[in-house]
Formats: sequence, C-alpha cells, structure tokens
Amino acid sequence: MRILSVFGTRPEAIKMAPVIRRLAALPGITPLVCVSAQHRQMLDQVLLLFAITLDLDLDVMREGQGLTYVTTAVLGGLGEAYEKLRPDRVLVQGDTTTTFAAALAAFYARIPVGHVEAGLRTGNIDSPWPEEMNRRLTTHIADLHFAPTEQAKRNLLHEGINPARIVVTGNTVIDALLDALAILDADSTRLAAIERELPRIDPAKRLILVTGHRRENFDGGLERVARGLLRIAARGDVEIVYPVHLNPNVQRVAETVLAAHPAIRLIPPLAYLPFVHLMRKSALIVTDSGGVQEEAPSLGKPVLVTRDTTERPEAVEAGTVELVGTDTERLVTCANRLLDDRAAYEKMSFAHNPYGDGHAAARIAEALRNG
Ligand code: UD1
Ligand code: UDP
Repeated sequence: MRILSVFGTRPEAIKMAPVIRRLAALPGITPLVCVSAQHRQMLDQVLLLFAITLDLDLDVMREGQGLTYVTTAVLGGLGEAYEKLRPDRVLVQGDTTTTFAAALAAFYARIPVGHVEAGLRTGNIDSPWPEEMNRRLTTHIADLHFAPTEQAKRNLLHEGINPARIVVTGNTVIDALLDALAILDADSTRLAAIERELPRIDPAKRLILVTGHRRENFDGGLERVARGLLRIAARGDVEIVYPVHLNPNVQRVAETVLAAHPAIRLIPPLAYLPFVHLMRKSALIVTDSGGVQEEAPSLGKPVLVTRDTTERPEAVEAGTVELVGTDTERLVTCANRLLDDRAAYEKMSFAHNPYGDGHAAARIAEALRNG
C-alpha cells in the first residue's frame, strides 16, 4: 500500500514525523512524502531534525503569500504529484491551507484521504481563521479520521461522521515531544551546544517564552499582546524570549514594539530541540500556537493563550491553560498573578497529558494497515 503524507508547514511536519517513521517500519506499506513547502525555512528545520526524505517538494512559499495563492499553488501542484506518485491513500494533518488543498486534490483524483488530528473545533469559522474552515472541509473529504481526543471524536460524531471511521489515537505531537526530550536527555554534548546558541538568561530571573502568529490577531491583536509584554518585562524580574515567526506581519509588530527592550530577546524561529529545551526552562508560556498548547501541559508549564477561542479545551478544563485573549490589561493581570502568587502558579503548573501518551503514531499506522 502506497501511503502519501502531504504537508507544508512547521507544525504539520512535527506532527507527521512520528507517523512517517511508524509507517516505514510496517511491512507491506510504502510511505511516500510530498511537501508543499508552504513554509520553507521553518519546514526545513523539522525535515532536518527528523531526517525526513522527500519524494516531491512543490516549493510553493512566497514572501507574504495570500490564502488564494497557497490554495491554488498546492492544488495545482498536487494534481500532477498524485499522477506521478500514484498513492493508494493520502494522509494530511491538521488545518492549514496545505491540509485542505491536499485533501481536495486527492478528492478530485479519487484517492481516499486519512486525516490526522481530526475533529478539533471552536465552532466559530472566524477563529481561528482560516483554520476552522480548513479542518471542517477536510473532515468532509476524508474517509478515515484520527481524532486526538474523545472530545474531538464527539465533534466529528456531531457532524454526522460514521463512528466506524473514527479512531481516537492521541495527538502525534506528544510522540514528537517525547522523542525530542529523549534526544535532549541522552546527549549532553548536543544539549550544551543548544544552550550555547540560545540567549543567556540571568538565573535570578524567570523566563517567559512567547510565540504568536494567528492571522486573526494581525488586525491589532498581536500589537496589544506586544504592549502587554512590554509591561510584563518592566517588572524587572523576568526575561522574555520570543522566537519570532517568519510571517512578515508578525515580524513587523515584534520589531516595532519590542526590539528595543533589554529584557526582551527577539530571536529567529528555533529548531524543535532548542524550542523544547526552552519550554522546559520557562516559568510561563504566552502563545497563540496550537501545538504549544498541547505540549506545555506535558511539561507542566502554565500557558496564557492569546486567543479568544480554543479548539483544545482539555487543558483549559484541567486548569493549566488559560484563554486570555489579546487584551493588554488582561494579559498583564494574568501574567502578574502567576508570577506573584505562588498558589496560583502551582495550581496551573502540574504535568498532565490530555493530548496523548506518545503512542498516537503507532495507532495511526496500525489503523492504516487495517484499511
Ligand atoms: C501557517 C498556517 C497556520 C499554521 C502556521 C504554523 C495557513 C493559512 N496558515 O500560517 O494554520 O498555524 O502556518 O506556523 O495555512 N515565512 C517564511 N519562512 C517560513 C515560513 C513562513 O518566510 O519558513 C513567511 C513567508 O513570507 C510566508 C509567510 O511567512 O509568505 C506566511 O506563511 P503562511 O504559511 O502563509 O502563514 P503562517 O502565518 O505561517
Ligand atoms: N516550535 C518550534 N520552534 C519555534 C516555535 C515553535 O519548533 O520557534 C514548535 C512548537 O514546539 C510546536 C510547533 O512548532 O510543536 C507549533 O508551531 P506553530 O506555533 O507555528 O503552529 P500551530 O501549532 O499554531 O499551528
């Protein structure tokens, strides 16, 4: 069986890497990989770490690309790719524009689609935008749905998906995270080299790790968050490290608002190992990232999510993730509470694994083999 994994961005690559590895270990399966390269540098960082070899690279990324461009470039490129690679099944991950376009191209080519990380929903098509629509559309193209949690399965059932075609697997991001932790813990030389490349943090100060990139936050949200970070940095007892996403809309705000502050380090996007290392070292994470919301609970790190909605309610319900939106005042108040109130901090900082046990990829590979 020829199973073609198609993906294009950093988080898709991180979450597909364990699946590709598992598929390669199963007799009777030929795993193939095609990247759209909707991301370039940030994708290549992951391909390198997990030694993913490509059968095809569409190399679509352009500076400041729009959604229509990405959709049509991926759809057009994959039409030809599917003819060339002749997959029996296409596997997509998550909710990016590559995910949706790859599923649509497979539908047009009459190739069945498996969807990894199926069933996440906010119920609001404007948030996250365009991801909520990408994943809904992908659901209705796919015939095999790998739901990370029971809640995700319920969302799919609610949309009329056949229960016999849903497998609850856990999220493969936890497989990737555990792989990364194992590498970091096994290789002290590599860890020391990673440490040397990272900004030096004053041991007397607490580290706050920040990321942000959501399109619905471009219209003022990212800037309000940045103004909050300035006020948090002004406390004097924290250092903020912010690996800035390469999207020019994110770069512009980060550079304009934050570059001058001595306690805020703006750095390029980190490869996965150093990023995991920094998550582990941090006292607090401020992010709008989906993947980081899933990883941080496993590391016992409190997360303030700079979004109004989340499709990942499990850690919010458990109390380790709090939705703070993009209001400057609210972000500052929530961060200060965590930094000043030991009991509040401890309440949010226990390790738990609502998103997976590290065996999601094995379950997915097994289900694929069985059809
Ligand atoms: C995309 C996904 C989003 C996902 C995010 C993960 C869509 C519409 N958006 O958002 O769902 O959560 O990736 O990070 O699918 N760029 C580079 N180098 C890179 C990556 C990006 O220069 O390696 C710059 C380019 O100028 C590019 C721009 O960022 O045009 C935007 O990239 P794009 O993939 O369209 O959007 P993201 O904001 O990265
Ligand atoms: N990540 C990384 N380097 C960074 C920032 C994030 O490797 O500088 C990882 C992070 O651990 C997570 C994934 O990238 O696994 C999340 O990607 P992103 O936030 O870009 O996308 P999202 O998950 O929101 O779709």
